[in-house]
Amino acid sequence: MIVTVEEGVVQKKADAAVIVNLFEGVRPAGATRQVDKALDGQIQTAIRHGDFTGKTCETLLLYGTGDVTAKRVLVVGLGPKENFGLEVIREAAGTAARHLQNMGLASASTILHGTGAGKLNVEQVAEAVAEGSILACYQFDDYRTKEKPKPQLKKLTIVECDRSNLTAARRGVRVGKKIAEATCLARDLANLPGNTATPSYLARTARSIARTHGMSCQVFDEARMRKMGMGALLAVSQGSRQKAQFIILEYNKRLGGKPLIFVGKGVAFDSGGVSIKPGGGMEDMKFDMCGGAAVIGAMQAVAALKLGIRVVGIVPATENLLDGAGFKPGDILTTLSGKTIEIVNTDAEGRLILADALAYAARLKPDAVVDLATLTGACVIALGHHVSGLMGNNDDLAAKVQEAGNFTGERVWQLPLWDEYRKQIRSDYADMKNTGGRAGGAITGAALLAEFTEEYPWVHLDIAGTAWSSKTRPYVPKGGVGIGVRLLTQLARNWKKKA
Ligand code: BES
Ligand code: MN
Ligand code: ZN
Repeated sequence: MIVTVEEGVVQKKADAAVIVNLFEGVRPAGATRQVDKALDGQIQTAIRHGDFTGKTCETLLLYGTGDVTAKRVLVVGLGPKENFGLEVIREAAGTAARHLQNMGLASASTILHGTGAGKLNVEQVAEAVAEGSILACYQFDDYRTKEKPKPQLKKLTIVECDRSNLTAARRGVRVGKKIAEATCLARDLANLPGNTATPSYLARTARSIARTHGMSCQVFDEARMRKMGMGALLAVSQGSRQKAQFIILEYNKRLGGKPLIFVGKGVAFDSGGVSIKPGGGMEDMKFDMCGGAAVIGAMQAVAALKLGIRVVGIVPATENLLDGAGFKPGDILTTLSGKTIEIVNTDAEGRLILADALAYAARLKPDAVVDLATLTGACVIALGHHVSGLMGNNDDLAAKVQEAGNFTGERVWQLPLWDEYRKQIRSDYADMKNTGGRAGGAITGAALLAEFTEEYPWVHLDIAGTAWSSKTRPYVPKGGVGIGVRLLTQLARNWKKKA
């Protein structure tokens, strides 16, 4: 989608449709009021008849008669004024854009929602409008050969009447577009089937974005992993014909200093291994690489935005399958750190590959490390699909991650990582075992990771419940959400400010 900003008044804009808005329970104001006047009060009439109230993401479609030049007018609800913010803007912009895309329109114009209402700055609003619109119009239909390709809203024009806002609006659009595109990359990786999005496909994708965006990319093969001692990642990979890939993307290496590091679980498919998963729903386990996808996406965004900090993205990528040569319960693995893990359940594989990745991260002397993983079903039970679980060893970093998540609408909720949970993974034979029983499963998973992150500030995000959406939301179509891309990018943007 091409998003541009031009000076003008929306009622005079010639386009297939123009998008305006309405707060719940109030009369049309600002640009919407001008459009309403030009439409001889049709919006007011719809309100008076009770056909439109301005509830969040409610829509009203009218036609451009009288002094409105565009063919159609779509009014989108912004909900009550007191709930208004960037997330409402993303949702409203997304709803409107997808509505018009579904009608088959290729082009539309919009006002900047809520800049008239005051408090929000134009750049952030423009960023949210671009981001919400692009994300909402995302479609994944690479594998449909029978249906015609769905129409796409190709062009969105932001019409702004105040000339002094244009520069800021353009800046916001540029940023929002880059972040949205990086999120769509992560969605693609999630939506692609396991027979395409293999560990080596993830490595190829990382190499290709490194080339396009001027980053360095290193990929360790299994021989290198063996030499280094990544016994946990190799054990998980043992049962698969696909070779594991240890992907390292690095942005701004030349700056030196301590990097901010993102680590993402890249299990291209998780069958559970010998501790096999039930058949029902197993197909969804192609999305077990969403942590890795978020890291690859965020690295693209960080580089595209040319942030002035050093960032490293690490993705241990593998499949977890079954094979005579596969690892099995009772095995004891030696990780890159030297610590040993007794396997109780081969389905608790994410923490194993992360153990090696987090130990590798320590060698880069990080400023901080954030890992993302579709780690536990227990986290889905605890928090559902609306929020990611957060655990870690540093309250300051946790607060920064939380702030970034609140800003982008990717909320996180902290669970306690107390010593009692660590005791649940004590092993009779090794330094730890890879599961701690059913109770507190999200936390005992993090407790294992904590064994490998003692040398730096660290936060773990369990995105098992948030990485995949089984229903369409205002700016999230069904399927891969791209969760974490925007949060990590926002964290990196704030990092620069605070450093
Ligand atoms: N990838 C799964 C976690 C998962 C489950 C993600 C459902 C999304 C939806 C992970 O590798 C796993 O299998 N975890 C086990 C751990 C258990 C064996 C301790 C789980 O959650 O059941
Ligand atoms: Mn598993
Ligand atoms: Zn898994």
